[in-house]
Amino acid sequence: MSASGEVPDILSPQFAENPYAAYRTMLETQPLTWHEPTRSYLVSRYEDVARAFKEPAFTTDNYNWQLEPVHGRTILQMSGREHAVRRALVAPAFRGSELERRFLPVIERNARELIDEFRGRGSVDLVSEFARHFPINVIVDRLGLDRGEHARFQKWYTSVIAFLANLGQDSEIAAAGLRTRRELAEYLIPVIQERRRNLGDDLLSTLCEAEVDGMTMSDEDIKAFVSLLLAAGGETTDKAIASVFKNLLEHPDQLEAVRANRELIPRAFAETLRYTPPVHMIMRQPAHDIELSTGTVPGGATVTCLIGAANRDPRRFADPDRFDIFRTDLPTETAFSAAASHLAFALGRHFCVGALLAKAEVEVGMSQLLDAMPDARLVDGASPVEQGLFTRGPATLPITFTPPIPAPA
Ligand code: HEM
Repeated sequence: MSASGEVPDILSPQFAENPYAAYRTMLETQPLTWHEPTRSYLVSRYEDVARAFKEPAFTTDNYNWQLEPVHGRTILQMSGREHAVRRALVAPAFRGSELERRFLPVIERNARELIDEFRGRGSVDLVSEFARHFPINVIVDRLGLDRGEHARFQKWYTSVIAFLANLGQDSEIAAAGLRTRRELAEYLIPVIQERRRNLGDDLLSTLCEAEVDGMTMSDEDIKAFVSLLLAAGGETTDKAIASVFKNLLEHPDQLEAVRANRELIPRAFAETLRYTPPVHMIMRQPAHDIELSTGTVPGGATVTCLIGAANRDPRRFADPDRFDIFRTDLPTETAFSAAASHLAFALGRHFCVGALLAKAEVEVGMSQLLDAMPDARLVDGASPVEQGLFTRGPATLPITFTPPIPAPA
């Protein structure tokens, strides 16, 4: 691709610095290309990426090599009835009354505890002091695991994401992923076995007890799902919260609107998911040759769906490179369901199980942050940059604000 001199290679530093400029050119001149280093077809247009997510002929067999070696077998790679039953076993824990009753208090407490560490100080790096800890602490607490082990969980999920995103086939990253699978199993299997003997109110107990059509989850199934949860629920929402804040800080009038009316937070989140999605690419494997709007992808090939590009396709979104929480072509009502018009959570049967949890985390986290930092602004001279290829978000977000005046003793 780089040979054309027009679009930087997706593995190049130039692409990592600003993928959006490359996406623009791809969308116009190279909407479907073979990429030799990743041995995959890059697909960028909205229509094609949405189709790949929705049509079962685009299988998720790619996860057999992309994730199974680190997680074990998970719902991501399943299809048909097996996927439907497995998903029905876990999905209810992440929506409706389970979300309201059991997750919300944990979300509120964890946001408050992290903010307490810096609310009196007047400055914070929102990435390293808040976003990186908040979603993973929520999941770990809800699972009833030991929060004191935070550093290990973070090391594990970082290594899982690195394995998933190992497009350059780095052998050290691959070896670290396999080590993580062993370490996580050694840690989790005894915890799961103990939990079966002493069921409680936590998510791990819910998973131990879940039953659909006579099907339950084995220790190994639960371990694989928890491994997926740590990565899917930690790394992504972490980037999402930091990105919402960054986008708003860079558009002060929209930040003021959200500050004045907190009901706009879901809108700001939805537009962030479109404009700067936490996950920039997801793969699929067509079961047979499939004709897309831009050409044919052969059966058995790997297709890399460029979410970050599709979300900025001018054929779908007006003025796509503009961050605008008031845009009319991105309805908030559907933004956290499989009818979403952005593609950040994928679409179709593998649509993100945690979308409503992520929404609740962003709503609570943002609202508490806005309360604690009524005049939050970027530190003078700071111009935060995004980093990451597969998953992407601000590297740092240094903020300054007026701390509250301490109450007289
Ligand atoms: C803003 C935050 C998030 C983003 C951008 C995101 C993105 C995604 C995407 C793109 C997929 C589809 C993968 C595919 O089709 O190949 C997915 C699936 C999934 N996500 Fe999320 N996710 C987020 C938060 C969460 C959270 C908080 C959880 C749970 C705690 C979670 C759990 C899952 C699970 C279990 C799946 C697999 C669903 C299936 O295969 O049926 N995600 N997510």
